[in-house]
Amino acid sequence: MKTFKSFVGALMLLTIGCSTSIDSTPKKSQFVAEMKRATDHHSFSKPEEAITTHLKWDAKVDFDRRQITATATYTIQASANANRLLLDSRDLDIHGVTVDGVESRFELGPTRPFLGQPLSIPVTSETQKVSVSYTTSPNAAAFLWVEGDAPFLFTQSQAILARTWVPCQDSPGIRFTYEAHVEVPSDLMALMSAVNPTEKSKNGHYDFVMEQPIPSYLLALAVGDVEFRSVGEHTGVYATSDLIDAAQFEFSEMEDMLVAAEELYGKYAWERYDLLVLPAAFPFGGMENPRLTFATPTIIAGDRSLVSLVAHELAHSWSGNLVTNATWDDFWLNEGFTVYFEQRIMEAVYGRDISEMLSTLSYQGLVDEVDAIMDVNPNDTHLRLHLKDRDPDDGMTAIAYDKGYFFLRLLEETVGRQAFDAFLKTYFTTHAFQVMDTDLFLEYLNTHLLNTSRLRDQVNVSAWVDGKGLPPNCPQVSSDRIERVDAALNAWIQGETTSDELPWSDWLYQERYRFLSNLPDNTEASRLAELDAAWDINSTGNNEVLFAWLEQSVRSQYTPAYERLRSFLVEVGRRKFLTPIYQGLVETGQADFAREIYKEARPNYHSVATGTMDALLAAHE
Ligand code: BES
Ligand code: ZN
Repeated sequence: MKTFKSFVGALMLLTIGCSTSIDSTPKKSQFVAEMKRATDHHSFSKPEEAITTHLKWDAKVDFDRRQITATATYTIQASANANRLLLDSRDLDIHGVTVDGVESRFELGPTRPFLGQPLSIPVTSETQKVSVSYTTSPNAAAFLWVEGDAPFLFTQSQAILARTWVPCQDSPGIRFTYEAHVEVPSDLMALMSAVNPTEKSKNGHYDFVMEQPIPSYLLALAVGDVEFRSVGEHTGVYATSDLIDAAQFEFSEMEDMLVAAEELYGKYAWERYDLLVLPAAFPFGGMENPRLTFATPTIIAGDRSLVSLVAHELAHSWSGNLVTNATWDDFWLNEGFTVYFEQRIMEAVYGRDISEMLSTLSYQGLVDEVDAIMDVNPNDTHLRLHLKDRDPDDGMTAIAYDKGYFFLRLLEETVGRQAFDAFLKTYFTTHAFQVMDTDLFLEYLNTHLLNTSRLRDQVNVSAWVDGKGLPPNCPQVSSDRIERVDAALNAWIQGETTSDELPWSDWLYQERYRFLSNLPDNTEASRLAELDAAWDINSTGNNEVLFAWLEQSVRSQYTPAYERLRSFLVEVGRRKFLTPIYQGLVETGQADFAREIYKEARPNYHSVATGTMDALLAAHE
C-alpha cells in the first residue's frame, strides 16, 4: 500500500487525457501504471510480471457429467524480465498447456483454502499466447447444475470463484476482453456476460464477444431453456417459458431506469442492459454481470415492488463494472457507491417517498448489523476491510453496502447535491475501465471535493473508512410513511389496534416489511394467527414480506406457517433469506427441524449458500 500511494500522482496524470469520453481500449501505458497496483491477497497472479489482456474460451458443457471441458487461450503482455505467467485455479483438471503454440510444462502449486492453487506457466517477455486445456470439477464452486425437466446451469464468479471454471488472473484489478465459443445441448440457450443471442441456435453452438475489458469476477455463463423478450430499446429479459410473461411485466421499467442512470452519471458503457431470471436456487438477489444481470426469480412479485434490485445491478454498470474495486478490501467502493446510485435511480423513477422508505430500511439493517458485528469482529465495521487470509465473502455485510451508502449520502449533504453529482460523474468518466482502491479514492476525494479543511473536518473521512461503527455525523433519514407504520405497530403491540384495523391493504411492500420485521421477538403465536386471519400473510406473493413473516413465525413458533417455511427453504436458495431463518430455528431450540429441512434442501443450493449454512448448523451441533 505504501509504495502504491507514491504512484497515485503518476496514475492520475496518466488518466487526465481521457476525462470526457469513455475509452475502453486497453492502453499500453495502463499496464505500466498498473504495475504499481495494490496487492491483492486473494490472487496468486503477479500482474507486474505478466498480465492477461484477452481471453479466447472454447468450451463444451456436459450436463450428464456436470463438467465443462475447455481451452482458455490468453493474449498476454509480459514485462521485460518476465519468466512466468501466474494464473489462479481451483479444482481444475489441467490436461495441457501451450505457449505460442508449443506444448509447455506447467506447475500447480500447493492448495490453499478459498484460493485454490497457483498455475505457473513459463513465458518470456516475447510470449504472446498461452493456452490451457482443462476440465472443471463436478463440484466446481461457481456452478449450480439444475436437473430434471428444466435443466439449467449458471455460474457465480464473484468474489473468487471464476478460477473454479476458467484458469485466470482472478483479481478485480486485472481486466481483459474476451470471446467465447460454447457448445451446449441443442435444446438449450447459452448466455454470457457478453453480446448475447436472442434465439436458440439449431445445433447448440454459440459465439460470444465482450469488447470492453472486464475483471474475471464478471465472467458469467448460463445455460437453460430460456426465451427473450424486449422491454425497451436497449433492454430486455430472458426467462424460462413459465416466467417470461411475468418477467416482461415486472421489469418493463428497465429502460426508464437506464435513462435515469445515464442522466445522473453519464453514458452507459455496455450498449445493452438485459436481465436473466435464474432458477430460485440462485444464492444472491442479483449479480451485475455486464450486459446481462443475473437475478433471482424471488423479485418477481407481480407488482414491480421489488425492482430496486434491478436499479442496484444496473448501477453497478458504473460503480464496479466501470470503476472497479482494486481488491476485496475495497469492496465498499463497489457496493457503497452502488447502493447510493441505486437510491438515486429509485428516487428519479419512483419518487423521493419510495427512495426514503428504502433508505430507512437500509438504515435499520445497518444499525442491526453494526451491533451484530461489533460483538464478533469490530474491525469488520470499517469501510476499508482487511480480509487477508480470510474468505472475501466475509466482506459481504451491510457495512460495505449501507455504511458505504450513508458515507456517500453524508458527502452529498455536506457539499450539496449539485456539486456531488458533478463530482461523481467526473469520477466515473475519469476512471472508466480502471481500478480504484481506498487510498486512491480518498486522494481523489480530497483533491476534487473536500478541498477545504472545514469540509474535511465536517466529514471526518477516517472515522468512516478506518473507524468502527457508525460515526455521529451519520445522516438522518426520515420517512413519514415509515413513521406511521411504527406508530401502528406500537398501537398493535399495546393492544390499542386490532389486526383487522391495520391499514395492511394500503401499505406498500416496504411498509409491510417494516411492520413484520419489527415485531418483538417474543410476540405470541396467537397474535400471528390474528394477523394471518386478517391479511392472509402466509399466502403473500411478495418474497420479502414472506421472508419477514417466516422469520417471525420461527421466533414465535407459529406452527401453521411451517409448511410454507419448509417449501420456501427447499425451493429458494437465496442466502439472504436462508441465513436468518435457519439461524432463527437453531436459536429457538428447533435445530432438529432445521437439519431435517436442510437435508432435503441442500442438494438444491449453490456452494455459496451451503458454505454458510453448513457452518451455521455445525456451530449448533
Ligand atoms: N455484486 C453483488 C453480489 C455479490 C457480492 C456476490 C459479493 C458475491 C460477492 C450484487 O450486486 C449485490 O449486491 N446483490 C445483492 C442485492 C442488492 C440489491 C443489495 C444481493 O444479492 O443480495
Ligand atoms: Zn451490489
